[in-house]
Amino acid sequence: MTQAKDPTAQLSDLAQSAGLDMDDMDGRQRDVGNADIFARIAHFQLAEQARAVGLYPFFQPVEVNDGPEAEVNGRRVIMLGSNNYLGLTRHPEVLAAAHAALDRWGPSMTGSRLLNGTSPVHLELEEALADFLGTESAIVFSTGYLANLGTVSALVDRHGVSVLDRDVHASIYDAAALALGKYVRFQHNDPEHLARVLDNLGDETPRLVIVDGAYSMGGDLAPLPALRAVCEQRNTRMLVDDAHAIGTVGPTGRGTFSHFGLDQGEDLVIGTFSKTLASVGGFCAGPRVVIEYIQHFGRPMLFTASLPPASAAAALAALRLIDAEPWRVQRVQELGARMRKRLAELGFDVADSQTPIIPIRVGDEVRTAVFWRDLLSHGVYTNAVVAPAVPRGQAILRTSYIATHSDEQLEQALEIFAEAGRRSGVIA
Ligand SMILES: Cc1ncc(COP(=O)(O)O)c(C=O)c1O
Repeated sequence: MTQAKDPTAQLSDLAQSAGLDMDDMDGRQRDVGNADIFARIAHFQLAEQARAVGLYPFFQPVEVNDGPEAEVNGRRVIMLGSNNYLGLTRHPEVLAAAHAALDRWGPSMTGSRLLNGTSPVHLELEEALADFLGTESAIVFSTGYLANLGTVSALVDRHGVSVLDRDVHASIYDAAALALGKYVRFQHNDPEHLARVLDNLGDETPRLVIVDGAYSMGGDLAPLPALRAVCEQRNTRMLVDDAHAIGTVGPTGRGTFSHFGLDQGEDLVIGTFSKTLASVGGFCAGPRVVIEYIQHFGRPMLFTASLPPASAAAALAALRLIDAEPWRVQRVQELGARMRKRLAELGFDVADSQTPIIPIRVGDEVRTAVFWRDLLSHGVYTNAVVAPAVPRGQAILRTSYIATHSDEQLEQALEIFAEAGRRSGVIA
């Protein structure tokens, strides 16, 4: 009788036979001796190879998206891979607001906010966001990505420095790259290291400390009280990207400052409409003078078309529903805590998650893709996250939960997790 091969050996066989080379992911040729810039990337094959063996987890068409369930490859799946945390994308009030705005303004304002792209609904949304967070003012961008780019690049001039937690979202790295000043980093969630980094900059270097409130991959929270104390002692402002925390964190879904019982004060909060707020777009909220400055000098807001009014109207309706239907915030927090506990009991490593984002640490990229595919083929949709979104060899399966998931859906998903986890060698 032949003995079954252990899952790890099977995986490396699979990777080898498919020719998957995880050490050379982008296949870029650095020395082509040729002016043709396309020649440098002509050997990028990893995506094609992964597709050929059915292990390509990206750009998966989602045919129907009902919130807690979706349809993929013609079959119904439990959706554990979206950021629709409060389940508002199909809420009748959100849909009605978007339809009404679409009828009134059409699909686009066809211009920048600065010139012809501001509708009354943009202004109403900005006022509602400032009210919601208790800030003086807020400014709406066409995406959260652009909100980070516009805010950081407007503030950090060539004399300034962006000081980033190492694990901040890619859009903040891009924002720091666009800003004229340089950037430095501190160890993830490490206030003591932040203090040393700030002290090294000296007292006269203008700086902006930037963290995610809730980390998009790890699902952990920034220790804001300690970080804030370090910053305050050093006359330093903070920008907190609460893209994943608005609607999910804090007793009323007001995000990370409120979770820790802190006032946002004069610090800045960035948010997005593409998660809890069931739409597309982003914002920065803070003191009036700072928002006014960003509004006039944030190039990623000036030189791009404005957010379509229908998207702004959907976000505004969703924002109001956070307060009008408070059970959603409570339910998503309760589901996050429950699923963290249950997944850990099954033997999965759920890292330091404190939110409805629960990563399952896998490590190996191919094993992660095999686990992802197995889950999908049994009716559970998740996200495989590999380098460069996480460091090479630290791949995770990202799962996230929605207030409108039923208990039955989650029990069914847990059973499928246990079986697929054993088959792919993620748990014993
Ligand atoms: C922490 C964080 N900031 C910003 C963004 C960008 O948001 P948007 O999708 O609105 O561009 C994301 C989205 O993935 C995010 O996770």
